[in-house]
Amino acid sequence: MNLEALLADRLAAAFAAVAGAPVDPLVRASQHADFQSGAALALARSLGRPPRDLAAAAVAGADLAGLADAEVSGPGFLNLTVRDDVLAAGVDALDDRLGVARTAAPERVVIDYSGPNVAKELQIGHLRSTIIGDALARLFTFAGHDVVRVNHLGDWGTQFGMLIEHLLAVGGEDHSPGDLTDFYRAARARFDADDEFKARARQRVVALQSGDDLSRRLWHRLVEQSEVDFLAVYDRLGVTLAPDDFVGESFYQDQLASVLAELGEKGLLTESQGALCAFPPGFTGRDGEPLPLIVRKSDGGFGYAATDLAALRHRVREIGATRLLYVVGAPQRTHFRMVFAVAALAGWLPDGVTAEHIEFGAILGADGKMFKTRSGANVRLSALLDEADERASTHAVGIGAIKYADLSGDRRSDYVFDWDRMLASTGNTGPYLQYAYARIRSIFRKAGGEPGPVVLGEPAERRLALALLGFESVVDAAIAQREPHRLAGYLHDLAVAFSGFYETCRVDGSPSRLTLADRTGRTLRVGLDLLGIDMPDEM
Ligand code: ARG
Repeated sequence: MNLEALLADRLAAAFAAVAGAPVDPLVRASQHADFQSGAALALARSLGRPPRDLAAAAVAGADLAGLADAEVSGPGFLNLTVRDDVLAAGVDALDDRLGVARTAAPERVVIDYSGPNVAKELQIGHLRSTIIGDALARLFTFAGHDVVRVNHLGDWGTQFGMLIEHLLAVGGEDHSPGDLTDFYRAARARFDADDEFKARARQRVVALQSGDDLSRRLWHRLVEQSEVDFLAVYDRLGVTLAPDDFVGESFYQDQLASVLAELGEKGLLTESQGALCAFPPGFTGRDGEPLPLIVRKSDGGFGYAATDLAALRHRVREIGATRLLYVVGAPQRTHFRMVFAVAALAGWLPDGVTAEHIEFGAILGADGKMFKTRSGANVRLSALLDEADERASTHAVGIGAIKYADLSGDRRSDYVFDWDRMLASTGNTGPYLQYAYARIRSIFRKAGGEPGPVVLGEPAERRLALALLGFESVVDAAIAQREPHRLAGYLHDLAVAFSGFYETCRVDGSPSRLTLADRTGRTLRVGLDLLGIDMPDEM
């Protein structure tokens, strides 16, 4: 039940009659009543009438019977108090979906997330993309969209020359590269120290790109091992990316010539210092010079941008996506803006198809700088997960704490990685919500009686009922804004409302209160599942 929408609907008609034109009644949750409308204040100036009069006229004309009581307050606000029987019936009716309807306009949504680079272990930098992307994939799926997850692996590029040469040098085809981070470092060291090796690595890139068999096989070996490593981390994290979702940069290589040709035909390419570039209007560098999106480099090779253009075209044309989400850190903002702009000019983003960069801030250390190990190295995700397991009482609590800490703030902001804060059992944390859920489970293990119809008496019961009915609108908003933190914040408020209820109301033996507890447990479970956070039954 979306109370906000229901009230807005009823008030819209009344305000429209007063104003003689359509009006957004601006209904919001409020401290002063259940909801408040500020529309009279907004209208007062244009209509030249006192806001209190407008609010009173709207109340007189509004059909709120059986739903809420309205009262003009202060300078002209409308305070709305939902009737207790409406709240009670709403809580009674909450089902498995907790009132969230499936969208009437399902879209095919391609969500590009995680995107680690082969032969480098998953780094903390990919953690946010993985966690936020997975939450969005779960939310869009829940709303009834057709979600296609894509893990845009960095599995192509010049670094494979040195990696393959190194693999040959240490044992060849039958040799396991072992720990890929160490392997990468060793290859790099050799590349930097040995000119002959460097020359061979360069030739190897050419061989690989022209389809040489041995080079392909060795490359494949490295990619395969990387994928196994990534999947192991996804599994530990409870992330829904599966092997079929891995569509790396290499997949698009044979589409690049046609991307280039199509852009050329449309007159979008300009030669600049030997490279073929697109110059979408509106992008300039620091010096005011037009900024190029390099499609083909001066050495004839294709890079990150060309691959993203091909991937976008593929997702729209072949996969049939109407919506593209790229969950990638804020530093790639200009890259994506330019890719989208060029794609739009090329006609690859027709009407009804949208592309959006879901950007996010950095994870910082206690010193406010990029989060690193004590020795200044990049933090490996697997090491981080090991530490979570050591510090937390159970795996679900450790992982839940990390995920919740990442999802509970506005994704655009940086945040400080702080074990003590994220693992705390009080405050806006994952463990706090897991405890709240476990407590509800234990009520049902111990309590006598069966849940029955809700009857509201105590203020704390009423507050809890109102909170429960807020789930639908918050899920809608989290999807509409691509902001999982809205759901996180809601779940925390709900757990606080529950704790207030549990402290003042004796649940045992009360059918109504057992129903309130049951719906709270359900909402926490479904809500945290949408964030990708597991709920232990006992803690
Ligand atoms: N591999 C890239 C990186 O580590 C992220 C890929 C993001 N997705 C994309 N379509 N460009 O920065």
